[in-house]
Amino acid sequence: MSVQNKTILITGASKGIGRSLALLLASKRANLSLVARSEIELLSLKAEIEVLGSKAEIFVGSVGDESFVKETVASTLKSFGKIDSVVNNAGFGVFKQAADILTEEWDSIYETNVKGTFLFCREAIPHMKLEGEGHIINVASDVAKRVFDGGSLYCSSKYAQDAFSMALRKEVRKDGIKVSVVYSGLVDTYFHSKVEGDPHQSEYLTSQDMANAISYILEAPKHVVIDELMIHPMSQDY
Ligand SMILES: NC(=O)c1ccc[n+]([C@@H]2O[C@H](COP(=O)([O-])OP(=O)(O)OC[C@H]3O[C@@H](n4cnc5c(N)ncnc54)[C@H](OP(=O)(O)O)[C@@H]3O)[C@@H](O)[C@H]2O)c1
Repeated sequence: MSVQNKTILITGASKGIGRSLALLLASKRANLSLVARSEIELLSLKAEIEVLGSKAEIFVGSVGDESFVKETVASTLKSFGKIDSVVNNAGFGVFKQAADILTEEWDSIYETNVKGTFLFCREAIPHMKLEGEGHIINVASDVAKRVFDGGSLYCSSKYAQDAFSMALRKEVRKDGIKVSVVYSGLVDTYFHSKVEGDPHQSEYLTSQDMANAISYILEAPKHVVIDELMIHPMSQDY
C-alpha cells in the first residue's frame, strides 16, 4: 500500500531513526507530522522535506506531556484531515546498576518510552476507529525480549512498551487498526554516541536500514499486518 498522501506522525523525528524515516517517507510523498524537543533540528528537517516536494508540520515538545500530545494530534488532524499512522519512536536509554538509578532517571525513561507511546495511541486511536483503519508502529528494541546486567531500567521500559502494544493489538484489530512492533539490535544513531557515523558503530545497522524496515511495514497491503519485526546487524549475536 502506497504511503503517498497518507498522514504519518513520527515521534523522535529530530535525529537518528525518526529523522531517516521522515526523509524516506517524504521521498514517497507522505504528509508528515514530526515530533521532538529540538526545534532547530525539526526546522531543518522540515526544510529538507519541502525541498523534496512533500509537506511536514513540526511539533516541539515532550511525548510524555499530555497536553502537548493532545494539541499535536488535534493540529495534525486540522492540517492534514486524518492520521493514517503513528510511529512511536521517541526513546532513550539509561544504563546503570539498579542501586544507582536516580528517581528522576526512572521517571524520565518511563515518561518517554512508555507514557509517550500510550498517550499518542490514546489520542490517535479514536480518529483511526472513525476511519475504520489505521496503523500504530511502536519502535521497541530486542531488549523488550531479553535483559542484561545494567539494563533494568531501559529493558523494563521496553518490556512495558511491548506488553502495552501486544494488548492494544488485541483491542483494536477488530476496528481495522494494525499494531506493529519493531525489535531492533544496535543502530548507529545518537542513542549510543554523540554522533551518527561514529567509527565504533560502523558495524551497526544504519538509521536508513531502520527506515527501510519501518517503511516496509507501513507499505504492507491493507489485508496484511506485520505484527512484529526483529532486526539485527550481522555483527551482533542474538
Ligand atoms: N540506537 C539503537 O541501538 C537502538 C536499538 C534498539 C532500539 N532503539 C530505539 O529506537 C528509538 C529511536 O532511537 P535512535 O536510535 O534513533 O536514537 P536517537 O538518535 O538518540 O534519537 C532519539 C529521538 O527521540 C527523541 N526524543 C527523546 N526523548 C524525547 C521526548 N521526551 N520527547 C520527544 N522526543 C524525544 C530525540 O529528539 P529530541 O532530543 O530532539 O527530543 C530524537 O529525535 C528509541 O525508542 C530507541 O529506544 C534504538
